Amino acid sequence: MIDKLHEEAKNPSNRGYAGNGDGALKEAAARYMKNVCGVDGIDPKTEVLHSIGSKAAVSILPGVFINPGDYVLMTTPGYPVFATHVKYYGGEVHNMPINAENNFLPDLDAVPADVLAKAKVMVLNYPNNPTGASATPEFFAKVVEFAKANDIVVIHDAAYASLVFEGKPLSFLATPGAKDVGIELHSLSKSYNMTGWRIGFVVGNPLIVKAYGDVKDNTDSGQFLAIQHAAAYCLDHPEITEKIAAKYSRRMDGLVEVLNGAGLQASKPKGSFFLYVPCPKAAVGKDGSRIEFDSAESASQWLIKEKLISTVPWDDSGAFLRFSVTFAAPGGEETEKKVLAEIASRLSDVTFEF
Ligand SMILES: Cc1ncc(COP(=O)(O)O)c(C=O)c1O
Repeated sequence: MIDKLHEEAKNPSNRGYAGNGDGALKEAAARYMKNVCGVDGIDPKTEVLHSIGSKAAVSILPGVFINPGDYVLMTTPGYPVFATHVKYYGGEVHNMPINAENNFLPDLDAVPADVLAKAKVMVLNYPNNPTGASATPEFFAKVVEFAKANDIVVIHDAAYASLVFEGKPLSFLATPGAKDVGIELHSLSKSYNMTGWRIGFVVGNPLIVKAYGDVKDNTDSGQFLAIQHAAAYCLDHPEITEKIAAKYSRRMDGLVEVLNGAGLQASKPKGSFFLYVPCPKAAVGKDGSRIEFDSAESASQWLIKEKLISTVPWDDSGAFLRFSVTFAAPGGEETEKKVLAEIASRLSDVTFEF
C-alpha cells in the first residue's frame, strides 16, 4: 500500500482538491462491502462517500440531523465524538447502558417514551469500543424494526468490523431493511493499521450519504486522492486485515490466559483489540498489604503507578478495565510472549478480590 501511495503521489492529476472524491475508492468500497461483508448491491455512485477517518464522519453527521432539542440515542460506555457535536448543535444525548447483564447490547425497549418522541438518530458501534462486544444478526434486525417504528436514523460505526476472530465481519447493512434506515461507517485506521492516513468511507442509504456529502463538502475538501487510491488498493486486499486480525487473536489468547492466571475475569471477545474485564474491588499483596479500589479509575491508577501496566478505566455502566492487545512487540511472536510474561510477572505478587 505504501508503494501504491508513492506511485499515486507522483501523479500530478492527484494534486488538486479532492472534493467528495473520484470513483476509485467508491467502487472499491462497493466491492469490499460485497466481498468482505456480504452486502451486495451497493451503488458506488450514490451510496458511498469517503471520510477523512470515521472520527471526521461522526463529527460531520450531527450537522446533517441535529436541531436544538433533538435527541440522539447512544450507548454508554461508547466512543463519545458524535455526542460532543450533538451538544454543540443544542441536541440532547440519551445514554443506553451496555453491560454484562445485557451482553453489551442496549435494551431498546427501555428508552423512555418522551425521549423516543424526540429521538432522531441512534449511534451504534460493533465490535464495540471499549467493550469488545459484537452484535448479532437478531439484534440488528431488532434495530431496523425499532428504527422504522420510531422514525429513527441508524448510524453504525463499524471501525472494528473486519477485525474478527472467527467467521465473517457482521455489517449492519447485511440486515434486511437496514439501507432504508441507516448508514455504516468504515475506517481503514484499524483494519489496515492506517490510523495516521485518515481515510474511511460512509456507505448505505443514498439520501443520508448525499446529505453527509453536502455537509462534508462545506467542512473539508476531501482526502488527498493519492491516499484515497492507496486505500482503494487496500480494500481489494482484505488478506492484509485477516493477517492483522490473526495477530490480535493470538495476542488475545495470551492476554486472557495471563489475566485469568492473575485472578482477573477475562474472556476473549469475538473481535476488536479490546479486552474489557470487570474491575476488582481490592488487590491483596503477598505481604498482607491491601489496597481497595472504589472505581475502575482508582484501579487503573494503581495498575499504571505500581505495576506500569496501562489500562483505560470505564465507570459508566459498572466498573471495568479496558486492556488492549495493540502493545508494541518489535520482533514478532517471541517479543509478544516476553511482553505477556512480563505482565504475568508484575501481577504475580497480588491476588484480586471482587
Ligand atoms: C468506535 C470508534 N469510532 C471511530 C474511531 C475513529 O476512527 P478513525 O481513525 O477512522 O477516525 C475510533 C478510534 O478509536 C473508534 O474507536
